[in-house]
Order: sequence, then C-alpha cells, then structure tokens
Amino acid sequence: MNDQQLFSLLSDMSLEEKVMQLVQLPGGAYDPTAFQTGISEETIPQRVRQLAGSTLSIDGADKLRDLQTRYMAAHPHHIPLLFMLDVVHGHKTVFPCPLGQGATFDPALVEEGASVQAAEAAADGIHVTFSPMCDLSRDARWGRVMESTGEDVLLNSRMAAAMVKGYQGERVDDGRHVASCIKHFAAYGGAEAGRDYQNVELSEHTLREKYLPAYRAAIDAGAMLVMSSFNTWNGIPASAHPQLMKEILRAEFGFDGVLISDYGAVREMVPHSYAEDDADAARKSMAATLDIDMCGACYSGHLEELVRSGKVPEQALDEAVMRVLRLKNDLGLFEDPFRGVSAERLEALRSDPAVRASARKTVAESLVLLENKNEALPLRGRRIAFIGPYAENADIHSSWAISLGDTSGTVTVRKAAEEAFAGTGTEVRFAAGCTLLDQGTHVNVSIYSDPDWEEKNRRLADEAAEAAEWADTVVLCLGEHRGQTGESTSRVSLTLPEVQTDLLRRLAGTKKRIVTLVFCGRPLELKEAAALSDALMVCWLPGSEGGHGILDVLTGRTAPSGKLPMSFPRAVGQEPLHYDQYPTGRPRPDDRYDAFTSRYLDCENSALYPFGYGLTYGEVRFSPVTLSGGTLAPDGVLTASADVTLTGPMPAEQTVQLYLRDVTGSRVRPVRELKDFRRILLKPGETRTVSFEITEPMLRFWTAENRWASEPGRFRLWIGPDSASGSEAGFTLIG
Ligand code: GLC
Repeated sequence: MNDQQLFSLLSDMSLEEKVMQLVQLPGGAYDPTAFQTGISEETIPQRVRQLAGSTLSIDGADKLRDLQTRYMAAHPHHIPLLFMLDVVHGHKTVFPCPLGQGATFDPALVEEGASVQAAEAAADGIHVTFSPMCDLSRDARWGRVMESTGEDVLLNSRMAAAMVKGYQGERVDDGRHVASCIKHFAAYGGAEAGRDYQNVELSEHTLREKYLPAYRAAIDAGAMLVMSSFNTWNGIPASAHPQLMKEILRAEFGFDGVLISDYGAVREMVPHSYAEDDADAARKSMAATLDIDMCGACYSGHLEELVRSGKVPEQALDEAVMRVLRLKNDLGLFEDPFRGVSAERLEALRSDPAVRASARKTVAESLVLLENKNEALPLRGRRIAFIGPYAENADIHSSWAISLGDTSGTVTVRKAAEEAFAGTGTEVRFAAGCTLLDQGTHVNVSIYSDPDWEEKNRRLADEAAEAAEWADTVVLCLGEHRGQTGESTSRVSLTLPEVQTDLLRRLAGTKKRIVTLVFCGRPLELKEAAALSDALMVCWLPGSEGGHGILDVLTGRTAPSGKLPMSFPRAVGQEPLHYDQYPTGRPRPDDRYDAFTSRYLDCENSALYPFGYGLTYGEVRFSPVTLSGGTLAPDGVLTASADVTLTGPMPAEQTVQLYLRDVTGSRVRPVRELKDFRRILLKPGETRTVSFEITEPMLRFWTAENRWASEPGRFRLWIGPDSASGSEAGFTLIG
C-alpha cells in the first residue's frame, strides 16, 4: 500500500481499533507454549486479543501461518498481526553471544551472521527481532553485558550498524530478512552498582559521548524500531522521557519509526513512583511518542478514554498508529502476510553447511587468548584429557537462545575433539571433573541444589585425577552457568564457582600442561586461573558451533585473533572498569606507589587484561608510528602508519587499533579513545604497513558549550594491539 491508502485505512478504523494497534500482547495470549521473557499478570479480554497490533515470543512457521490466518479473518479491517522475537544471536543456529561477537572486531563477519540469523527467523514466521542491544557496558556485575558488544563507543557503533544491516538487508520485505528493533534506549548499561533495572545517573555529556553513539549508528543504518529501556535517566523513566524520546531520538536523530517499550515498562512507571496509575503512565508515554506498550495493559486499558477525554490528542494517537501501519506495510505484510514463511526453508537453512560455517568462523574469531606460556598452544602431546563441566556440556548458549529448542545439534568440545584427533595418533579422554556450580548457587529463576553434590564431586574429582595422571596435556573447560548471565542476573562477585577453582588447583598440582578455557557471558576475575594455567582462553557462550570453533583454534587450524571487548578486572571492586577513563588531577601509573594519587590501597588501577587485548600464535611487533605531518588543519588529513610484523608458526589475523588522546579540552578528556581498527592477515615473517587517516571529525566531543566540536590543541596517538600499549606519536590540531 502507499501512504494515501494507509491514511484511508486509518480514517476508516474505529478509535478502539486504533488504540489496539499500539498494544503488544505476550505470546501466551495466543499460544500457551510461547516463551516467557517477562511477567504479565492481567487477564486479557478476548476483544484485546482480537484487535492487538502485535505479539512476541512465538515462533514456528506453520503455527504462525495458522494464527495469522485466524487473526486476520477476525479483524474488522484484516490488518496483519506483527510477530516479534528476541533473535539476539541466532534463531535455530545459535552464534556466539553478542559480547563474543564484539570480540571478533569483525563487523563484516557479524553482519553476515545477522543475515543468516534473520533468514532462519523469517522462514520461521518472525517479522521483527529485538536486536541489537546497543547498550554500552562498563560494569561486569551487570548480567546483560553478555548481550552487548562491550565497553567501547566505536566498537559498539560499528557492531550495531553491522547487525542492523545484516538483519534488514537491502529489502526487509524479501522474506529473508526481519526488521531490527534496537535496544534499550537509553543507557540501560549504566545501571547503578551494576544492578539490573536500576537508576542511571549520567551527565548529559557522558550520555552523549559514550552511551548514545551506538544507538545513533544503528538508526543511521536504518533500524526500523527502537525499544525504550527499563531504567530512569536522571530520575525520569526512559519510556516517558521527553528529552530522550522527543528531543534526542525523534528530533535530533530523526527517527520516525516505531518506538516500543520494554516488557511492562509503561506499567512500571507506577512502582518507579513516576506515574499515579496506569492511565497516568499511558498518558505520559504517549506524550513522549511511545508507540507500543509491550505487555503492559496501560494502553489497552486506558488510552481510548484518555483520547475521548482529550487528555491525549487523537492526532498523537493517529501519528503513532500510522507508524505501526507503515512498519507492517514496509514489511510487505499487507501484500503478503506470510512473506517467506516456510518450514521447509527453515530446515534447509538449518542444515546448510554455509550457515554452520558462518557460525563456526564467528566462534573461532571470538576466542580471546589471554596467556600462552611456553607456547602451550596450539595443542601438542599424544594424550590429551579434556576435563571440566564444559568438556562435554552442550549448554553453551546464552539464555537468549530461546528458539533453539534442544541442544542435540550443538557441537560440544568433546564432539569436536573426537573429530579433530580421530586417526591422528593423539588419544583423548574426557572427564567432568566437578559440577558446574557450587551448592546453593542462584541461577536465573532457581537455586541450584543437588542432594548428592558432595558425593558426586568426590567421584568426579577422582575421575579427573585419573584422566590427568594419564594425560600429558589437560584442557580444562570451566566457566559460568548460562543462567548466571543475561537479564536480571547481576552478581557482586566475578569469580568462577569455588568447586571449579578447587579442580583447577588440584590439576595445577599435577604439573601437567594446563590449557584453561573459560565459558562466560561477562568479564570474570581470572588472576588465579592465569597463574595456574599454561594457556588461558576466553570462549564466551559460543553457541551451536562452539566445539568446532574452539578446536579449530586449539589445534592450530586457525590462529586466535579475538580481542577483549570489555576490560577484565583484577578484582570486582574495580567495577565499573573501562579503558577510556579520565586521568584525574592525580593520575597514578601502575608502577608507582605514590600517596595522594588516584589509587586503591589493595589493587592496581589497571585491568588484569585491558580492552582490545588478545594474543595470537607467535609474536606481533609494532614499529614506531610515522605521521604524514605534525599539524592537522580542520579540513586536512593526517596519515598515521606503523609496520606490523608477525613472527610465528602460522598465518594469523591481528586487529590493529588506533587510539587518540586529546591532551586538553574544555571538558576533561579520556586517557585514550579507540578511533579506528582494522583486521589484517599476516603470514609468518611478514611485515605490513598499516595506515589510518586522521581527520578533524574524529576529534569532536561534547564540549563545555554543549555541542559536538573539536578544539585546537595537542593530541597523542597510538597504533597497537590493545588499549594499554602501542607505538606513540603526537600532532596538533590547528584552528
Ligand atoms: C525483556 C528484555 C528485552 C527483550 C524484551 C522482549 O524484558 O529486557 O531485552 O527484548 O523483554 O522479550
């Protein structure tokens, strides 16, 4: 349909019909087997079911085809129902969690993955995915860092744009793509004390410089929906925040798509103490141009009366409804409400080697090698024991892999190891070694308790000791439970479960070569694991091809190339921890212990492993930086170059990073900011010159005059392998 036809449809709709287009019902209203991603207590009147504009968390081609057919037949204007779902890092083929995808520093690969995920979701009847999460994440205590691509503005911006392009493609109505709903606007990652849903206290300049750019990049990439966040920003709930929504999102960013609340976020304004009741919450949300009330019953219960009484202008209602109708139209649903829906095509995708290969490559590129003492990796030795709760565990997806169904198709470490070493003369053995969790641990919505926990761990410990005794190399597979990361899983400690640390200590005592793999959805405290292991590698929550990607790196089929998207702390007390900190008036370099400096008495300031850090096989060296000049004019270009050399056993990819520091500004400036990065492939012994162009727009920040601008003065720059090293140079921006 064209806009004129949409307007005539709108004018023909009753007030009730228009209001209900702004209502999203939980999937359970239509399908009792729908996934639960929030809690909705109210009973839903049949009339609301009949007229609601969208629903979420139902999937299945045949099921949704049937539901759509029945729904449209009963709707007075036969307007199609929108099906939305959290396809966060895969639908049936699950990719690494987004934090792991951030570690690839490979937006092109991530875009390819998003396109694959969209194709599977579209075939399964999904129209919209609630992804990417663009929330800058600096506090590892917050469980949702797993869903982000980390702590850096530029990395998040490039990854968010890549995912939007992958999900939506060139034509979102081609039956192979889905609309992207970016989330959670805004600054959800800044939750106080890392506690989910908490208030966010941010200056406007930090909000603008650090938290908003990734949402902006996603919107500029064409994101068709935005989801508001649960948190308040400086005391006002985001979903009704006039400045965030009307001034910044709509007016400044130019976003005219659908703005949907998070699950129940409109209703939650009452407990937030921002709204008197549901009607007040509905009114304030409409005033902020919030289009859809997700699972809240505020719009369905009060919006019609609010319009009739004039408290909400019907014009505002019509504008919101038009945005929803345009979304359905842009998805091609008026022409073909079943576009692309096909159980057969989904099965074909699931068994497509190219789909698995894309996931496998993403796993391999996501792995971050933190230690490799005496070249413990690539694996060598004739007897390798894979020990630990993740040695054979197929549960290596995040809690957002809600459409996966069973894990029978997941490649475990064991399965991949048996494949990799078959016929090579290297023998492999497997032992769980311990339970994944300590007794009484809270995970997701339950408390882990096993009456045989003591006895089971005694037996598992004996099996591990025997396997280690037999082996010349131990691959120790440890990590968080997937229920300890994701929504509503904030933690005050970042340690591995005690039962796993005990296993590590015992095995370290055998003096065998220990390669430790860590499965996690957040930075963890790994100081002891690093000390007791010969090699240490972060595997995140790697998904369906986890085992294959991990063994590809362990065996040297491919060299590790991942870089940390978040700083790993020495201690949780350092959180929130991020590399782009301000210098303070009393900076304290790690190697000095001066009083009256910005320090902890009991810990270094620096990260144990900094943002951007990651080793490969062999050694990577950077030459001093050469600059094409010492000054940069506002319309000029400076070229900064460094020679990068690899010495090692095999080709390896390296993400070369460019950092800048503005030495003086009208506001204080971070000690470093990532301004560009590039993956290069080096052969052993090869030297490659890597050059970056520096231009004035890269130097802009939110100045004391509250505008984006650069300011003349001195700048320092680094080209290197991470945020804590690299070759340095300097230049001056002239006025
Ligand atoms: C959840 C999450 C959000 C998700 C939504 C729908 O509460 O906060 O990320 O997309 O509900 O499932």
